[in-house]
Amino acid sequence: MLQLRILQLVLLSLVCGVLGIPAQAPLVIPQGGIDDLTKPRRKLQGRFLHITDMHPDPHYRVGSSAKKACHRGKPKEGKAAAGFYGLSYSDCDSPYSLTNYTFEYLEREWVDDIDFVIWTGDSARHDNDRRRPRTTAEIYALNRAMAKRMEEVFVRRGIPVVPSIGNNDVWPHNIMMPGPNSITSEFSSIWRSFVPFPAYQVFQRGGYFSVEVIPNSVAVISLNTMYFYDSNTAVGGCEHSDPQDPGNLELDWLEVQLRLFRDRKMQVWLSGHVPPSSRNYFPECHVRYVELSLRYQDTILGHVYGHMNMDHFFLLDAQALSRRHNASLTSGNEATVLKHNKKELYRLLLQEFGDVPKAENLDHDNYGVVNVAPSLVPTYLPSFRIFAYNTTGELYEPGQLGEDEQPGPATRSMRDIAGPLCHDPEYQNTWRCQLTQPWHSNPKSPSRTNALWTPLGFAQYYLPGLDGATEEDSPKFKLEYLTFPVHALHPHAEAEEAENATLARKFAYPIPKRHLPRSLRNSTVTKSKKYAPYGLADLTIPSWTRLARRLGRKKGKTLRQRFKEFMYMGGGEA
Ligand SMILES: *[C@@H]1O[C@H](CO)[C@@H](O)[C@H](O)[C@H]1NC(C)=O
Ligand SMILES: *[C@@H]1O[C@H](CO)[C@@H](O)[C@H](O)[C@H]1NC(C)=O
Ligand SMILES: *[C@@H]1O[C@H](CO)[C@@H](O)[C@H](O)[C@H]1NC(C)=O
Ligand SMILES: *[C@@H]1O[C@H](CO)[C@@H](O)[C@H](O)[C@H]1NC(C)=O
Ligand SMILES: *[C@@H]1O[C@H](CO)[C@@H](O)[C@H](O)[C@H]1NC(C)=O
Repeated sequence: MLQLRILQLVLLSLVCGVLGIPAQAPLVIPQGGIDDLTKPRRKLQGRFLHITDMHPDPHYRVGSSAKKACHRGKPKEGKAAAGFYGLSYSDCDSPYSLTNYTFEYLEREWVDDIDFVIWTGDSARHDNDRRRPRTTAEIYALNRAMAKRMEEVFVRRGIPVVPSIGNNDVWPHNIMMPGPNSITSEFSSIWRSFVPFPAYQVFQRGGYFSVEVIPNSVAVISLNTMYFYDSNTAVGGCEHSDPQDPGNLELDWLEVQLRLFRDRKMQVWLSGHVPPSSRNYFPECHVRYVELSLRYQDTILGHVYGHMNMDHFFLLDAQALSRRHNASLTSGNEATVLKHNKKELYRLLLQEFGDVPKAENLDHDNYGVVNVAPSLVPTYLPSFRIFAYNTTGELYEPGQLGEDEQPGPATRSMRDIAGPLCHDPEYQNTWRCQLTQPWHSNPKSPSRTNALWTPLGFAQYYLPGLDGATEEDSPKFKLEYLTFPVHALHPHAEAEEAENATLARKFAYPIPKRHLPRSLRNSTVTKSKKYAPYGLADLTIPSWTRLARRLGRKKGKTLRQRFKEFMYMGGGEA
């Protein structure tokens, strides 16, 4: 162990020495890396883009068979052939025509309306074609190609992009050794325009970093979830007895980041590729992630992830960690079941939603909410999300513990929650019984009450009609649904109706009107079952837990149907 640590230190200094980062980088990348001083600060639009799992595939051939990974062959009678822009509801990866088309669309239609981009990984193909095995060189080349487009479309216009490493961005897939290693070194080069200079040294070691997307106000933390992901057999999984495990080192770093941002009265988004569920993470990494999410609930605006390709959200729930581990429900088993039956996730989520207590008995201190976005690769249909957030509200200033945070029962720690379990020798030396720091939770924080930087909602766009599309007759991105109530889309309906353009223009629309379908552009429309079934006033924890309750109730059948339809985009497994 000690030898390994020394080796790591030596390697770290070697890598930095060889690349000469401290000496030369400031000349190349202005302070902050992404903070090019020659570009004027853009006016805040109050929106950001979340895009994930692009999976470009240079071997994709139009007309080929899905059975052959859309690389060759002819489909059987009655089976769809690989289309010009991709093959929907399939296991094929994305043709360049789809990734190019998406970048061109975002560049034409969205760049002026967003402030930053969260891009949660898997930027290489992931098919299993034995005749064309994936190689490290190809994975890096594909990542470089996607990063270059991100740079051209967004970074050059002063829009920060925050990428994260996906389980298919490494070779062999899922496996990543503790850094510094060739992967972290390669990505520091590929992501030159994304990783701020001060974050380089840590990035070289761990593949994680943070960016102040709104300087001194909002940061996005990009986590390297490979060190938490239970399919990565090259790491130990955050065991309490192994403080040098790369997952533990990463969570130590995250803890410091959260503390520093909180001290500066900033708010943060947590982002990464593999979502932090007990189904995906090593149990001990999961416990630490949940604990930090709750300990810094007053500083974390939300959690955005990819990897699953299925649209859904789930709750981080402290109470769930106070229950004994049920061997028949271990994450490994669930993961295997899920791999073969994607419908199973819907069932598991509804079970969890059904366990959410009634509003009167619900203690919001115990919850966090993870938003998992569907993929660009057409596992179902290509899609991306636009989040809107509050830019006009009042700044929340976290107080000292015991000052504005209620003392007594409201101030608790993970150890308090785990309680009786900790008398059991099986649990004594696990994280849940060792984490005694009190939580920073406050009902007035932006994750709990609509205030400055609170996420207000998202609109999800998708690309139906992929299969019939041709080079000349391209498909069109359309609104699939949004979380907002319809009235929130027209914040100044009276001015609009009076056709007072001056007044109407003064109000920021959460989603620019031209990006709404015609039926929602009319400010007299107050309801839309089709586009706005959730009607969430904002994306705070209370709004999400209420939705979870509605979905979990026996009565919520119609709503459940919509949730399922969105998960599988009305096809495939639905
Ligand atoms: C995609 O875009 C790249 C560069 O932007 C270009 O070189 C390539 O030919 C395009 N490919 C397709 C299939 O449109
Ligand atoms: C464990 O899970 C099984 C199967 O779901 C269930 O029948 C059993 O009651 C559970 N045991 C505990 C202690 O929760
Ligand atoms: C932003 O937050 C403030 C409270 O600080 C609230 O009054 C305002 O309505 C919010 N803005 C939006 C668009 O929800
Ligand atoms: C529009 O509203 C503004 C602000 O209330 C007012 O000054 C202006 O006269 C109005 N214009 C029209 C055409 O009603
Ligand atoms: C909006 O809808 C109302 C009621 O359906 C209709 O009278 C009005 O003409 C519509 N306005 C526009 C601009 O389409």
